[in-house]
Amino acid sequence: MLAGALDVSTGVGHSLTGLRERLRDATSAAHRKLDAQLSSFDLTVFSGYRRFLQASAGALLPLEAALVEAGVARMFPDWPERARSHAIATDLARLGQDAQATVSVSPMTPGGVLGTMYVLEGSRLGAKFLLKTIADATDSRVAEATAYLSHGTGKRLWQSFLSKLQSEEPCDEDEVIEAARAAFAAFERAADRA
Ligand code: HEM
Repeated sequence: MLAGALDVSTGVGHSLTGLRERLRDATSAAHRKLDAQLSSFDLTVFSGYRRFLQASAGALLPLEAALVEAGVARMFPDWPERARSHAIATDLARLGQDAQATVSVSPMTPGGVLGTMYVLEGSRLGAKFLLKTIADATDSRVAEATAYLSHGTGKRLWQSFLSKLQSEEPCDEDEVIEAARAAFAAFERAADRA
C-alpha cells in the first residue's frame, strides 16, 4: 500500500493547476475589457438585456459549433449538458429575436477545444453575478428569459471543468492559451456588433 502511495506522489512534474493560472493571467485583461463592454448594456431593461443576449449569442453560437466540429464530446462526454446555444436561442425567441452568429471563428485543435471551454465554462461565473442584476428588472419579460444565464445552476459545471483541465493529457499549453484569447476576442467582436 505504501509503495502505491509513493508511486502516486512521485508522479508527474507537469502541473495543469499551473495551466489554469496561466489561462487566468493570459486572459485577465481581456476579461476586464469585456466586462466593461458588457456593463454598458442595462440588463434591467428589455432593450439592454436583449442586446446583451444578442452580443453573447453572436459569439457563443459559432464557438459552440466549432467545438462540436472539433469533437468536443470526445473530450467532454457531458457536452450535451454544457452546450448553451439552445438556451440562448430560447431566451432570444421569447424576446422576439432570432439568435445569430455574428463572428467567425477558426477550426480548433484539441488544445483549442480546452482553451475555448475554459472561456465558455468560466462565463458561467459571470452569469451568476449578472442574474442578480436581472433580479432588479421591472420588465417581467427579462426575468422570464434567463435560460442562458441560469443554465447549469447547481450542477457544478465549472468545478468539473477544472478537474478535467487538470486531468487532461499534457498538451500544448500555448495552443490552449491562444484559443482562450481567441474566444475572448470573439466575444469582444460580437459585443461591438450588438
Ligand atoms: C459583465 C459580465 C461579467 C462579469 C460581471 C463577470 C464576472 C466574473 C467573476 C466575478 C468571476 C470570478 C468568479 C469566481 O471566482 O467565483 C469571473 C470569472 C470568469 N469569467 Fe467572467 N464575468 C463576466 C463576463 C464573462 C464573459 C462574457 C466571459 C467569457 C466569455 C467570462 C469569462 C470568465 C472566466 C474564464 C472566468 C474564470 C477565471 C478564472 O480562471 O478564475 N466572464 N467572471
